[in-house]
Amino acid sequence: MSLSIAGPVFGDALFDREEEVEDICKCVETVKTPQKRCFYTLQGVRKIGKTSIIHEVKRRYAAHPDICVVIIDCYDRCDDADLFHIYWATSVMNEFLTKKGYAKQTGTFSDPKKEPKFSETFPEIAGKIRSLGIEALESGLLAVEWLLQLPEGKRRPYGGVTGLAEDLADEGDVYFQMIFDEFQETALLREQEKVRNAIGDIFRFWRSQWVNIHRRVNYIVTGSRLAQLRYILENPRQAFFGHFSLIGIVGLVRPEAKRMIETLLSEEGYILQSKELLDQLLDLTDGQPYCIREVLDAACRRAGRRRVVKPEDIKWGIQDSFFGEHGRLRIHFEEYFQDCVETYPPGREVLISISQKNRTAEEIAEDLRIPISGINHHLERLERFYIIRNVNINRYIYADKVLEFWVCGAKSPCKRVAGPYLVGTEVERQLASFLLEHGIDLVYQSFQSRGAFDLLMEFDHTSIAIQVKKVKRFYYHFKRASYNRMVDYVEKFGRRWGVVCLYNDEEFRFYKLQNLNQTKHGYSITKKTPYTKNPLALL
Ligand SMILES: Nc1ncnc2c1ncn2[C@@H]1O[C@H](COP(=O)(O)OP(=O)(O)OP(=O)(O)O)[C@@H](O)[C@H]1O
Ligand SMILES: [Mg+2]
Repeated sequence: MSLSIAGPVFGDALFDREEEVEDICKCVETVKTPQKRCFYTLQGVRKIGKTSIIHEVKRRYAAHPDICVVIIDCYDRCDDADLFHIYWATSVMNEFLTKKGYAKQTGTFSDPKKEPKFSETFPEIAGKIRSLGIEALESGLLAVEWLLQLPEGKRRPYGGVTGLAEDLADEGDVYFQMIFDEFQETALLREQEKVRNAIGDIFRFWRSQWVNIHRRVNYIVTGSRLAQLRYILENPRQAFFGHFSLIGIVGLVRPEAKRMIETLLSEEGYILQSKELLDQLLDLTDGQPYCIREVLDAACRRAGRRRVVKPEDIKWGIQDSFFGEHGRLRIHFEEYFQDCVETYPPGREVLISISQKNRTAEEIAEDLRIPISGINHHLERLERFYIIRNVNINRYIYADKVLEFWVCGAKSPCKRVAGPYLVGTEVERQLASFLLEHGIDLVYQSFQSRGAFDLLMEFDHTSIAIQVKKVKRFYYHFKRASYNRMVDYVEKFGRRWGVVCLYNDEEFRFYKLQNLNQTKHGYSITKKTPYTKNPLALL
């Protein structure tokens, strides 16, 4: 097993989803009871594990004699209705051929979106399938052939594709569980003229097929763009209103997330230096499996052959994965934030402002210099789109805590970033809370503080980079190269000062870099080096 995996996981690699998987399996079983319909919608934020869950369900039915599970991935496939329906029809046929054991003799169709030679290889497989003499397969093949050849402007046989699973199930005495992953994307089909000409409103058409002509086929739809999906399924004016029951997918429960971390680490041959690190990771990632994997992966890279993951490895792991130039979580959250903003573009600045801490509408209005009525309107919309939640009378937080953490670190201007109690070495966290108590806005481990220092202290547009050390006595020596690196950093990023802070468990002392004493091998802090105990005096 590897720490960082981008695609769906199943079997032993899938943690804490037994309940969800069992619920869905129960729903699949009802497919054999005529008249009993069991439509489910799986909803959860991005990368929470929806696709993994449905692949696990499919895996469990692989050896089942008469239940065919077909997963239709709607993501990035709905801009062309013809291609989408070809993919749908061939997926249904492939599953049927495999289940019935015909696939060994006929072969199966490749993915029409990914295989450029699809139309060239199609006739050969179609020929072999025809020799089976199954009527429903014949009509499926015909529908695909037409879709491959029909000139623009001609009416499309989409209805033949929609009803294919039902016909095949009847004729072949099997059952179908159809699963549409990222179903909200199909809304794109609705606008296409060729779809309208062929079947009118596609959702109304599907509803009449799925609900009224239901005999041996059951439907599940999933999605991460919650606002769009819920609009399709829950708006009383929309065709699917009231037809689907919700299964909400959230992060792993804490003990399971813990088990996941421990299992992954031990499989890779790493251990965490202390139990607190585990808690930090759990707090930060909120049980989101993808984030856990990515931070662990980055932290273990930092630990390297040492094999013991130390606090600074976790700190840099968070930094690398969330904020680093090539950090996969950075890329993931960049897209995720973009999705939220796309859902409600005017809310962008409001979202950034909320991320700085759970705020009231008044504070946001003040921050953005927008009248409170305008802010209230934005907040209402963002809440309706499931991006933020109102907690505790007029205070707002993100629905997804990890997204909030990232937005704060990556998008906010120089304000307090990661909670000082959350990440970092112990002494860094102590210093961070000490500075906060002094009313300083603190940038902590966001991209701004990357480099030779541990923390960046911000106050009224002045930024000071701080390197903090725990000491027994107030003495410290830097090698020349380390000292020069700090000096270069201060200049390069336009910090007002570079500061070294020593802490002896009782007090913090702050020394400006230029006050350090030059020695033969570098620079030292001694009893005589000037310092201040008041961080505000540095400003
Ligand atoms: N229960 C889990 N146990 C272990 N890892 C998981 C689990 N769920 C998700 N993951 C990790 O998260 C990644 C994303 O999972 P998956 O693709 O199933 O999520 P998704 O919700 O479908 O994401 P998207 O929004 O991108 O469609 C997986 O590659 C895997 O690394
Ligand atoms: Mg998915």
